[in-house]
Amino acid sequence: MASELFAPVKINLSLHVTGQRADGYHLLDSLVVFGDVGDRLWVEPAAEMSLEVTGPFAGGVPADARNLVWRAAELAGQRLHIRLEKNLPHGAGIGGGSSDAAAILRAFGAPDQAIALGADVPVCLSAGPQRMQGIGERLTPVTGLPALSLLLVNPGVPLPTPAVFKALEQRQNPAMTPWPGHRLAAWLGAQRNDLEAPARGLAPVIGDVLAALRQAGADLGRMSGSGATCFGLFATRAAAERAAADLSRAHPGWWVMPTQSTPSAIG
Ligand code: C5P
Repeated sequence: MASELFAPVKINLSLHVTGQRADGYHLLDSLVVFGDVGDRLWVEPAAEMSLEVTGPFAGGVPADARNLVWRAAELAGQRLHIRLEKNLPHGAGIGGGSSDAAAILRAFGAPDQAIALGADVPVCLSAGPQRMQGIGERLTPVTGLPALSLLLVNPGVPLPTPAVFKALEQRQNPAMTPWPGHRLAAWLGAQRNDLEAPARGLAPVIGDVLAALRQAGADLGRMSGSGATCFGLFATRAAAERAAADLSRAHPGWWVMPTQSTPSAIG
């Protein structure tokens, strides 16, 4: 019997680039949350590793050792048959392969080496609100964060992460001001995603997505990760769903997905 695993969407509510290491990796300061939509995996022990990729975003996803889930299974010392249902666009700034790999590591172990698979894999292991620093390995749980009503919008343009970092002009920006624990929308409005400008240079349609989110009533519109997916913050799930219906009608080629973020763990 195969076990089912869930790989939730990752959203960077803010992403400050505060420096660069000698090896080229960038130092980040980011508030990361996870939503209730994501990829699904079915795994069962097998004599040989094998991978089948299905779902609406299976196109262009390698079904072999190039896929992070394959490498995660190897890192955990497992031989598995994996069926991966890709419900999220990839190359999209919302975790994709990192969250898939983290789902395997959560189920089978080896989390210490998560960073070896990618800078976003450690935060994806937590699947809850975290302040992420370093290149992604320094994690601090954020307490008191409520469930947020978000609307994710991707205009269908894949953006390779290295290209976005390369196009960044200013690599030393101020760190995030820690969240004071109240007035979330106002505090978030004062934070940034420093990758938004370089990403917009590579994919100007991101500007259209952000404008459309604001027009649809979002309290805040911002890009996640290295893009091109953007999120809108809404007061209620119903408001996010109404905006989703409007945006889908106006932009049938865009991926439009309402989601509710996982709140901070209690205690
Ligand atoms: O670690 P990962 O393979 O996900 O990173 C992809 C690319 O993104 C890296 O090769 C690097 O160009 C860039 N990156 C970075 N700084 C980070 C994370 C990623 O420069 N903290």
